[in-house]
Amino acid sequence: MNIIENYSLSRLNTFGLDIKARAFCEVAAESEMIGIAGTQKWKGKPKFILGGGSNILFTHDLNALCIHNLIKGINKIREDEEYVWVKSGGGEAWHQLVIYCVENNYGGVENLSLIPGSVGAAPIQNIGAYGVELKETFSELEAIHLETGEKKIFSAADCRFGYRDSIFKREFKNQYAITSITLRLHKNPGFNTSYGAIEQELKAMDVQTPTVASISQAVINIRRSKLPDPAVIGNCGSFFKNPEVPEDKYSELKKIYPDLVGYKTTQGKIKLAAGWLIESCGWKGKKSGNVGMHTQQALVLVNYGGASGKELFDHALQVQQSVLGKFDVFLEMEVNIL
Ligand code: EPU
Repeated sequence: MNIIENYSLSRLNTFGLDIKARAFCEVAAESEMIGIAGTQKWKGKPKFILGGGSNILFTHDLNALCIHNLIKGINKIREDEEYVWVKSGGGEAWHQLVIYCVENNYGGVENLSLIPGSVGAAPIQNIGAYGVELKETFSELEAIHLETGEKKIFSAADCRFGYRDSIFKREFKNQYAITSITLRLHKNPGFNTSYGAIEQELKAMDVQTPTVASISQAVINIRRSKLPDPAVIGNCGSFFKNPEVPEDKYSELKKIYPDLVGYKTTQGKIKLAAGWLIESCGWKGKKSGNVGMHTQQALVLVNYGGASGKELFDHALQVQQSVLGKFDVFLEMEVNIL
């Protein structure tokens, strides 16, 4: 295994930050992941799994062995009348897996088209978009414990999925490398077009009967029109989670701010649109030095070029403070801060 000391991660994080990892290696097979876990030199020392680098803000150099998961392969492993099970290596790009499903007309992940990042990272934050979350098609994942090298299979229940949340952000944070995930997809899909923007886009595309492919295309069109492409402008998608508040808090705010955007959750709370709160505080499209909240979507923190991790983080703190000051609502950061 080739371990390189003092390695720049600038190409490997979508904020484009030039930070260095104390050591770095690439892993292309499960056996290599087990090998790395057993390496004597790194026993008991910090290890960090890097996927697409699209949900991390590095505020300093990484004092750890950074393991870049490049385990590939997408295969149909089982099927019955209704479903097909597709297994993908954790090092695949998430959108490659979506393309595979769309091309084969397997339904369930078309609303999750064009999300940046790797397959192995997808369950960590239970990726979601346009009314759908990963957990709805998730079957199981395989993971290697980074200290013992032991392989473990996690069912959906084991992962304890929540809104942008799982056990891998909590008890098992940085403890496992996710080497594969298996999805259970529909052969005769029903569609989720409940999100207003999808319906509008399908109309604009002149689609009468939606298909896996047309919904995927609609989502791609919406994302391209709103969200900055990380290959062009440094960002990590939504920087904050949409906060949930009790109904009485929502009613109180709605009286003062009639335009406030919120949606009822199944737990009887109201999920507020953080983008709206941030925009109302005047941050949308406002540039401060090298950073700012995006012009089309105020929830996305962007690096206009040359920003440091600290500059981005300080900006996020200012936004968080101002939303708290104006609305008494705390915005939790969705991106991992290191
Ligand atoms: N809004 C504003 N101003 C803004 C942005 C949004 O007023 O600058 C309001 C609008 O009323 C809009 C509503 O917020 O109708 C919702 O906006 P949008 O549809 O863009 O979705 P979001 O809630 O801001 C979430 C996810 C996105 C996901 C979209 C679509 C989170 C933290 N973010 O954003 O996920 O693509 O819904 O489902 O839940 C990501 O996690 O990185 C991500 C991009």
